[in-house]
Amino acid sequence: MKMRVKMSLMCFMVLVMATLVNSFVGITWGRLQTQQLVPSMVADMLLQNKIPQLRLMTSGYDIIEIFSGTNISLSVTMGNQFVWQANRTDLAYVWVNDRIKDPINKGVNIVEVTVGSEPFSNTFLKEANNNQVVPVLKLIRETLDDMKLGHVRATTGHGMDVLKVSKFPSEADFRDDIKKPMLESLEEFNRTGAPFVLYMFPIHFVKEIMNYTMEFAFMDNKSGFKIVDGNITYTNAVELMIDSLAWALKKAGYPDMKIMIGQIGWPTDGYPHANIKNAERFHKGLLKYVASKKGTPLRPGPLDIYLHSLSDENEFRTIFGTFQRHWGIYRIVTSILHKLRAL
Ligand SMILES: *[C@@H]1O[C@H](CO)[C@@H](O)[C@H](O)[C@H]1NC(C)=O
Ligand SMILES: *[C@@H]1O[C@H](CO)[C@@H](O)[C@H](O)[C@H]1NC(C)=O
Ligand SMILES: *[C@@H]1O[C@H](CO)[C@@H](O)[C@H](O)[C@H]1NC(C)=O
Ligand SMILES: *[C@@H]1O[C@H](CO)[C@@H](O)[C@H](O)[C@H]1NC(C)=O
Ligand SMILES: *[C@@H]1O[C@H](CO)[C@@H](O)[C@H](O)[C@H]1NC(C)=O
Ligand SMILES: *[C@@H]1O[C@H](CO)[C@@H](O)[C@H](O)[C@H]1NC(C)=O
Repeated sequence: MKMRVKMSLMCFMVLVMATLVNSFVGITWGRLQTQQLVPSMVADMLLQNKIPQLRLMTSGYDIIEIFSGTNISLSVTMGNQFVWQANRTDLAYVWVNDRIKDPINKGVNIVEVTVGSEPFSNTFLKEANNNQVVPVLKLIRETLDDMKLGHVRATTGHGMDVLKVSKFPSEADFRDDIKKPMLESLEEFNRTGAPFVLYMFPIHFVKEIMNYTMEFAFMDNKSGFKIVDGNITYTNAVELMIDSLAWALKKAGYPDMKIMIGQIGWPTDGYPHANIKNAERFHKGLLKYVASKKGTPLRPGPLDIYLHSLSDENEFRTIFGTFQRHWGIYRIVTSILHKLRAL
């Protein structure tokens, strides 16, 4: 029974993906699992499913190089453990040369470097808190420019916890304790045309942060629950979360800064309401919404999003719960492909 539900979820996803060719939908991939996926299989799977962008939550060379000649756009993440190490011109040079320039010379389509994971977090990545990330971000930018890689964006990924908790998007603002480095980051993003990368975990926001009904996390508009903010009515958390960030950016002086959804998903286990049925419902609503290209009240138009994630990561730490290991949708995708081929 469980397997059948998984298959129908993925059948659906494959179909929707095919209709999203002209929208920007990517997927993330981390590598903290004992049974590692073979990178070349991943490349094939993305191509078959017409998912032309991958956000690697790592910078392992072996993985990056597999994508040579595939024209899959890669975003490469500089893990928090490297952020300290790269904070010197010579070391930044080595990192960019090995992980970015060399693969590009071998035909890998790297479009972005994400420096650190949630460096301003005060929740899930609290211990990685490193609001000194800005010098490294600038150094990586300079290094890329020196190497004639001006087309590769340099940015940082942030969770919703960079904002103060507020009921209405129009009340949203960045946390006071990180305002200074955040403003420096924003200045750098604006100067270089980099997007603000947001990692979203809607069910956590809805249940843990706001204590609203779970229904508000879905995008199928069945809940009846709504938040009315001035003349705007929000019927789901995803649009409300994005617009909260849009308000904070506006207040910081960047009303037009591009917002990219660097991760969004729904765990399948290990968290309240985490199961395959809900994950299916969430993704159905989300992908329909993305395909509509309507955007949010404050940010109308197409959205750039990366679904999270290709595979469960059974070696991911579980400090906040086993859900941290259960974001994967790959197994389900391959079983569908397998089934389709067997027909
Ligand atoms: C590679 O992908 C880009 C979009 O990301 C597209 O504009 C370009 O035409 C593609 N190139 C090839 C050779 O397919
Ligand atoms: C990077 O170096 C600068 C200047 O030397 C320092 O202020 C900052 O704290 C360092 N940041 C990290 C992440 O090491
Ligand atoms: C953002 O960058 C643009 C130029 O790209 C500049 O005109 C504008 O003043 C910058 N905004 C801020 C708030 O610095
Ligand atoms: C969450 O909301 C419910 C009612 O919707 C209430 O009974 C409960 O006490 C609230 N929990 C917290 C932690 O505020
Ligand atoms: C959601 O449903 C309500 C009625 O329940 C409707 O007024 C509203 O326009 C719908 N919103 C969206 C985004 O479909
Ligand atoms: C909504 O309110 C804002 C100001 O709060 C105003 O600028 C805008 O024109 C209003 N939009 C509509 C459709 O009434």
